[in-house]
Amino acid sequence: MRLVTTVQEVRAWHREAGGDLGLVPTMGYLHDGHLSLLRRARAENPRVAASIFVNPTQFGPQEDLARYPRDLERDRMLLEAAGCDLLFVPPVKELYPQGFDTYLEPAAVARPLEGERRPGHFRGVATVVLKLFGIFEPSRAYFGQKDAQQLAVIRRTARDLELPVQVVGCPIVREADGLALSSRNSYLNPEERQAAAVLHRALRSAQAAHAGGERGVDALRSAMRSVLAAEPRVRVDYASVADPESFQELSTVEGPALLLLAVWVGQTRLIDNLLLGA
Ligand code: PAJ
Repeated sequence: MRLVTTVQEVRAWHREAGGDLGLVPTMGYLHDGHLSLLRRARAENPRVAASIFVNPTQFGPQEDLARYPRDLERDRMLLEAAGCDLLFVPPVKELYPQGFDTYLEPAAVARPLEGERRPGHFRGVATVVLKLFGIFEPSRAYFGQKDAQQLAVIRRTARDLELPVQVVGCPIVREADGLALSSRNSYLNPEERQAAAVLHRALRSAQAAHAGGERGVDALRSAMRSVLAAEPRVRVDYASVADPESFQELSTVEGPALLLLAVWVGQTRLIDNLLLGA
């Protein structure tokens, strides 16, 4: 696996190697969720690249940019073992040089939920992902359903801007107790880690109610909230039943619906989601 830090090196590698490229953008501190994207990319493309870039423009001023976890040596070994051909780890100045001043205004799907709680977040995500698409010109790019709204924003960006890339969504990888893998899980102390499993239990409880015929959105939200309320270490940011495309809150569940949670566990904010079928 080649490791490069400049846009120019990525372009030179692309020219030399040629052919279809699968891209896996990440912020590093890799876990099996990230690696599932890499493996999928490996299976579907003759060449695979990953990026590790803790993108400052998607973090709010009160967020965890400075303490975001990093371990490049470990990430490198994991990517190499998973069959990655090229790893791009640019310094901040490489993607945001002095005078950088162009941002992408994402679609309306970026406004509710995460967009409302984290102003500017999706603008930063969409901007950096568009830059990565411009740098790599991938045939396919792989993103996790874990960040469902992010995936929807990126799909919509690719569609509205006619980007010649196939955006591939991949299933959520979970721990044995249901907790969705996340780099931010490393912030949790052992008690918080145990408490964090409540997110998935809450989603499953609403899923069970839905499977039992419940179609009332209030009832589905209450099912999630009552499971979460039993865990004193967590504080709910939102518990939503939304349209899986627009991310607007539903008033009744008639077709597919997405259950979405954002929850504070101590000082750590975790998100998770589960799709209810039609
Ligand atoms: P990061 O949080 O590092 O996640 C990189 C990719 O891994 C995202 O597409 C995310 O949805 C996926 N992912 C994370 N946890 C997962 C899990 N448990 N199962 C499956 N996929 C999972 O998301 C970002 O970075 C950034 O916003 C980025 C897109 C790189 C732009 O900066």
